[in-house]
Amino acid sequence: MSAPVFSIERLDKHFGGLHVTQGVSLALHTGERVALIGPNGAGKTTLINLISGVLRPDAGRVQLHGEDVTHQSQAARVRAGLVRTFQLTTLAQHLPVQRQIELALFEREGLTSRLWKSMDTYPALTQEALAILEALGLLAFAGLPTEALAYGEQRLVEMGLALALKPKVLLLDEPMAGVPKAEGVRILSALRTLSEDLAVLIIEHDMDLVFSFAQRIIVLAEGAVLAQGTPDEIRANPLVRAAYLGNEE
Ligand SMILES: Nc1ncnc2c1ncn2[C@@H]1O[C@H](COP(=O)(O)OP(=O)(O)OP(=O)(O)O)[C@@H](O)[C@H]1O
Ligand SMILES: [Mg+2]
Repeated sequence: MSAPVFSIERLDKHFGGLHVTQGVSLALHTGERVALIGPNGAGKTTLINLISGVLRPDAGRVQLHGEDVTHQSQAARVRAGLVRTFQLTTLAQHLPVQRQIELALFEREGLTSRLWKSMDTYPALTQEALAILEALGLLAFAGLPTEALAYGEQRLVEMGLALALKPKVLLLDEPMAGVPKAEGVRILSALRTLSEDLAVLIIEHDMDLVFSFAQRIIVLAEGAVLAQGTPDEIRANPLVRAAYLGNEE
C-alpha cells in the first residue's frame, strides 16, 4: 500500500494522574473515510486536539505527508492541509454565512491585513465561497446571519469553513452533535459530496452515520485502541459490543 498521507505513532498524553491517550497509533491514506468511535471520555477529542496541535503530546509523533509536525503550531499544520472542526459550534453568530466563508478564504490566502478592501476586489474568492455553499446545500442562506440558521445548518457552515482551508486531511469532531435527526440527513449527504482525495477522520456517536460513511472504524476505549476494522468486523467484534455497541441493537 502507498505511504499514508497522515499518521500518528504511539501518542501519549496525561492530564495530571489521568492517562487519557495511551500509545495510540493510526494512519490515513489519501481519500480514506475512517471513523473514530468509543464511549464518552474515551479520549477521542483529546486525540484530535493532539493531532491538530491544540495540545502537545507527552510522547509519540504526528506525521503529515511523511513530515514530522509534532512540534509545529496549529496554523502551520492547517497550512500543510490538516484541518479540524470542533465538537461545539464556534461560529460568529451575527456574520452573514457567505462572509464567514470568505473570511476563511482570506485567511488561507494570507490576505487578512487587507480586509479593509472591498470583497469585490477578490471576485475569485467570492466565487469560491459561493461554490462551497452550493456544495453544502447552503446557497439559499448566503446572505443571512448565521444565527438565523437551524443548528444542523450551522454545523454545515462549520464544515464549509474547514473546506475553505483546502484540507488534505479533515478531522470532524461529532458533526451531528446536537443536530436533530431530520437535519442529520443533510450532514450525511454533505459528507458524501466531499472530494474523493480528501482523507477524513470522523468522531461520531451516531452509529447510522458511522456505519454508512466509514470504510474503516477505529474503536477507542479508556485512551487506547480497542479494535479497528471494517464496519462488518467492528459490528461483529465481541470486545467492541461489550465496551460500546452493546446497547445499540
Ligand atoms: N483539559 C483537560 N484537563 C483534564 N482532563 C481532561 C481535559 N480534557 C479532557 N479531559 C479528560 O480526559 C478524558 C477524555 O476526554 P475527551 O474529551 O477526550 O473524551 P471523548 O472521547 O471526546 O468524550 P465525548 O464522547 O464525551 O466527547 C475525560 O476523562 C476528560 O474528563
Ligand atoms: Mg469528545
